[in-house]
Amino acid sequence: MVAFKSVSTPELATLSQIRRTALSRLSPEVADFLEGGAGDETTLAANRSAFARWGFRQRVMSGLATPDISTALLGIDLAMPVLTSPFGADGLFHPEGQKAVARANLNAGIASIVPEAGTHALEDVAEAAPKAARIAQLHPMGPEANFRHMLHRIEDAGYEAICLTVDCPTGGWRERVLRNAFDLDARYVNGNYRNDGETKLIEVFGQLFERCATVWSWERLAGLMNETALPWFAKGIMTPEDALASEAAGASAVYVSNHGGRQLDGVPAALDALIEVREVIEGRLPILFDSGVRRGADVVKALALGADVVVIGRLAAYGLAAGGQAGVERVHSLLYDEIRTVLTLLGRGGVDELGPDSLVRLGASAVSEALLTAH
Ligand SMILES: Cc1cc2nc3c(=O)[nH]c(=O)nc-3n(C[C@H](O)[C@H](O)[C@H](O)COP(=O)(O)O)c2cc1C
Repeated sequence: MVAFKSVSTPELATLSQIRRTALSRLSPEVADFLEGGAGDETTLAANRSAFARWGFRQRVMSGLATPDISTALLGIDLAMPVLTSPFGADGLFHPEGQKAVARANLNAGIASIVPEAGTHALEDVAEAAPKAARIAQLHPMGPEANFRHMLHRIEDAGYEAICLTVDCPTGGWRERVLRNAFDLDARYVNGNYRNDGETKLIEVFGQLFERCATVWSWERLAGLMNETALPWFAKGIMTPEDALASEAAGASAVYVSNHGGRQLDGVPAALDALIEVREVIEGRLPILFDSGVRRGADVVKALALGADVVVIGRLAAYGLAAGGQAGVERVHSLLYDEIRTVLTLLGRGGVDELGPDSLVRLGASAVSEALLTAH
């Protein structure tokens, strides 16, 4: 068991109930900002339907009643193979934002990836829960002097790894945001630049909002990352080519993600990209995965398809909006219990026993077609 008791109320009974509670507590504009994707939201939908295309290849009379789901990533021990993603603007969902997420993660024995564009400074999140705030996220953009300064701040605050988001050369085409004329207040994203004023924020994130900077290359990133001894990985890998390019640039892991369908609409489901990336990485580096995970069974499917650690974005934000730290803790305890239940029923004794032979590709089989015709 996870070594804590999470609070369960009717509002927090299940993961889908936590989502409903969260959305009912947020203003319609903020709920749309959280839920929405880019363009026609085809990638957002594909992320979900990809999970439904895989079923479990259940074995019986094997496995364990108490499967071991603990693991480690880059020397960080995890009670389950789950991390929380670097979702920014976190103060929109709860005033304590990523500080509450980090405290919940600490109690659940997992770790946070702390966002650069968050409501609270990375030092404050680390202080809230130093043993959970282990990975800091940065956007490789803006002035190099600022990027270097951020690397030093990350090191000084005791973080152990760096996540570089590489799928944001500009902001995604978010139509829900356009429709609502939603104006994201700077105070929700400037936690790391609070003392530097609006000018600094635009200088650093200008590329996201105003296309005023150049797109960095792997070479430029590799050169700058040589200046820190901390391990790093690139978030937003969707092709085998980029997985290999990030490895060649010195990454210590690969993070497959399409940003939860919020960046380039039209890219395939992240789960499909995971399968291709796993084939070229061949176990040399650990693989992180996110986009579309909404329950423990999804975590098990992603692990079986090659992920070493699964990262939750909106799921953690729902917990935060539904109940602050207690809401996120409830998300974690539901995930933990569901992952173990699925493993036991699947006849596997631990996450290390998962592989492609744990799943079966579902499709319009002859049997289901026959049934359809019969009706
Ligand atoms: C409200 C919100 C804000 C986000 N902000 C960031 C960010 O600042 N940096 C980043 O790398 N990813 C950001 N993401 C993307 C998440 O880190 C993650 O990739 C995505 O949510 C995963 O998909 P899922 O929500 O379907 O789990 C954000 C996502 C959401 C929902």
